[in-house]
Amino acid sequence: MKLTAVYPGTFDPITNGHLDILSRGGKMFDRIVVAILRNPDKDPLFPLEERVQILKSVVSRWSNVSVESFDGLLVDFARYRGAQVIVCGLRALSDFEYEFQMTLMNQRLEPGIQTVFMMPSEAYSYVSSRLVKEVARLGGDVTGLVPPDVASRLKQRFAAMAGS
Ligand code: PNS
Repeated sequence: MKLTAVYPGTFDPITNGHLDILSRGGKMFDRIVVAILRNPDKDPLFPLEERVQILKSVVSRWSNVSVESFDGLLVDFARYRGAQVIVCGLRALSDFEYEFQMTLMNQRLEPGIQTVFMMPSEAYSYVSSRLVKEVARLGGDVTGLVPPDVASRLKQRFAAMAGS
């Protein structure tokens, strides 16, 4: 049986930690669909269309990874895509409680879909989209933490905000 996994998130923006998980997951599953949440409660820095465009460009190196956006329940999207697995990245223990609750809720909603927890390389264990944005906003260097295109978009975005 071919295994399809969904890798959900806000990806505002994608970090090298996300890419590390995708690189590992791509070796475990036949297909991974990156599922970008369309309507997060939070106000994203990058509009959905831009996040989709960035993601598509950075995953183009892998033939078995594709990018889509979704709203509504994740399990409904996973079912619609024929996925058997949800991939969930775990960086630190602090991620666990939230991810644990979501996983149990998803299991209740759709017992036929399994969640697989994956850890990124130690080098990315502290990297989050939130911290990357904070550092970039305050003028810090995020080289190596995000793809080069994302680093320059962050720079441009915060320079434009400072100028307005
Ligand atoms: O990158 P994020 O913001 O931590 O990703 C959170 C995400 C998108 C995985 C989560 O918010 C989600 O699955 N939202 C879809 C709504 C849903 O299915 N909710 C019930 C599951 S608890």
